[in-house]
Amino acid sequence: MRRRTGHLQHDRRVKAVVYERHGGPEELRVREVADPEPGPGEAVVRVRAAGLNGFDPMMLAGSTGLKVPFPMTPCGDAAGEVVAFGPDTETSALAEGDRVMLDPSIPGRGMFGETIPGTCRELIAAPASALVPIPDGVGFSAAASIPVAYGTALRMMEERGRVAGGEKVLVLGATGGVGCCCVQLAKRVGAEVMATGRGEWKLERLRELGADHVVDTASQDFVELVRETWGKPRYKRPGGGAAVIVNYIGGDTWARSLKVLAEGGRMLTCGATAGYDPPTDIRYIWSFEQTIIGSDGWTREGLERLLVMAADRSLVPVVHAERSMEDAHVAMRELIDRDVFGKSILLP
Ligand SMILES: NC(=O)c1ccc[n+]([C@@H]2O[C@H](COP(=O)([O-])OP(=O)(O)OC[C@H]3O[C@@H](n4cnc5c(N)ncnc54)[C@H](OP(=O)(O)O)[C@@H]3O)[C@@H](O)[C@H]2O)c1
Repeated sequence: MRRRTGHLQHDRRVKAVVYERHGGPEELRVREVADPEPGPGEAVVRVRAAGLNGFDPMMLAGSTGLKVPFPMTPCGDAAGEVVAFGPDTETSALAEGDRVMLDPSIPGRGMFGETIPGTCRELIAAPASALVPIPDGVGFSAAASIPVAYGTALRMMEERGRVAGGEKVLVLGATGGVGCCCVQLAKRVGAEVMATGRGEWKLERLRELGADHVVDTASQDFVELVRETWGKPRYKRPGGGAAVIVNYIGGDTWARSLKVLAEGGRMLTCGATAGYDPPTDIRYIWSFEQTIIGSDGWTREGLERLLVMAADRSLVPVVHAERSMEDAHVAMRELIDRDVFGKSILLP
């Protein structure tokens, strides 16, 4: 076990993207903030890439119900290099200069970008236990795409949903970070995938990702498309519908999803982008013996496995764009306007 005590050799102020109150992307500013001093058990990481997620516009708008610690910084995901260790930080696996990904969930404190100011800053202090080494061949942007979105998708599809080869899987809102990974994972196990998104350019990207069928929700109804493609589920008769529906959209898609979920089908959810208290239709749940499966967060083992998949290129995170911190407002606006495919990355 190595023991290190580090002292930072740099200016006392560092840059971060901050917002002081709830609002829109115009609230985001690049500001100088205090240089993070690593406490006992902590390390400081020079952030090379930070990842935006679907919850960042919600945190900025103040629509989540979570209490935001102002001044707040967006982004939950980060990848970079270790620059220092705090006093009495013991680690057997890390040294200064190592390339690391940050596990955003800190036991007892919550999550970066939610209850802890986020990762879109030049330097960040975090418990050394939250740092995961990045294997060779995986860039910082790919690594910063993984934790929240890809980590959650992996746990939801594998551990909770047990999605298997040959199953018919419908992924709603498949163009976002979680959705792209769900499509990639479903194809990886040999499922037949129908993916929804808005806009022809995004549908083209979904096809490239392996989706067998695509639905443009701007002009098409996914209920009709499932019935046309896989048939209508019929009471006590096998066949018809989707065996699995990934639905973190909620809102008006919820009850409609139940209509095309197969006999014995599973609906997986990890969020509610379009509304968390939608009407439902319980008749479908009992008649067709459907199961609703919730999934929250990721595992460390899952993050490590995703890094290995990225290294051997068997599952490469989809990066939409890489932008400077100064353009954080542009990236946030794009996310709100639903003009993103995959993960939006900021480069501090
Ligand atoms: N519980 C957890 O641990 C956890 C972890 C990560 C994420 N989540 C949740 O999972 C969801 C997806 O996260 P994400 O980061 O992948 O988000 P994202 O990148 O913003 O993707 C969401 C996708 O949903 C579609 N969409 C956006 N707003 C919509 C609306 N009002 N109505 C219908 N569709 C809409 C968009 O696709 P189109 O414009 O192409 O339709 C977008 O690409 C969010 O609700 C997030 O809070 C939960």
